[in-house]
Amino acid sequence: IVMIGGIVLLAYLIGSIPTAVWVGKSFYGIDVRQHGSGNAGATNTFRVLGKKPGTIVMLVDIFKGWLASSLAGLLVNWGAISPDHLIQFKLLLGVVAVLGHIFPVYVGFKGGKGVATLMGMVLAVDLPVALLCLGIFVVVLLLTKYVSLSSMLAAISFPLLLLLPMFRPEDPLLLVFGVLIALMVVLTHKKNIDRLLRGVESKANINPFKSK
Ligand code: G3P
Repeated sequence: IVMIGGIVLLAYLIGSIPTAVWVGKSFYGIDVRQHGSGNAGATNTFRVLGKKPGTIVMLVDIFKGWLASSLAGLLVNWGAISPDHLIQFKLLLGVVAVLGHIFPVYVGFKGGKGVATLMGMVLAVDLPVALLCLGIFVVVLLLTKYVSLSSMLAAISFPLLLLLPMFRPEDPLLLVFGVLIALMVVLTHKKNIDRLLRGVESKANINPFKSK
């Protein structure tokens, strides 16, 4: 129990690392939460500070989710959980890291929306499903230019993909996790949904046929 508690805490602390805030403040003297959408995530870093910091924040935030989820392997190695429960713990630790990302202890609990960190978790849990979610994200983004819409549809597609026979997990609990995760992402995008409905959501500045 102590080991599991310690690892859960570690997952939260990893997820909490406010990459967007720290990169913005350290290298640009800017708190991205005071600009653009006000979100402490990769998308807003791209928007406010540009490609390079945006890419760094995206990669680090994905890595946070992957790392936190992968800590479940340690619990198996230490004999704290049985190998049969590896996936459940990967999901649990990943969700804890996403919660850390949304409510980071280091910067007043005002963080991001959890999408990149969630992607890291899905990568650690199921690579083919993760790549399909990523594909859905990219296609929606190229078609609509709305990162928020792409994020939500990718997150919603996670439990839907788990329903497909080839990806269906043995443990139905995983599906429940998938649905909760999708709900969590939709909830963090409340303001985006409102802006999308009013037609005022900002579009990403991407043109796949032209490299800047
Ligand atoms: O990953 C966050 C993204 O879906 C939306 O970010 O800054 O446009 O609210 P933002």
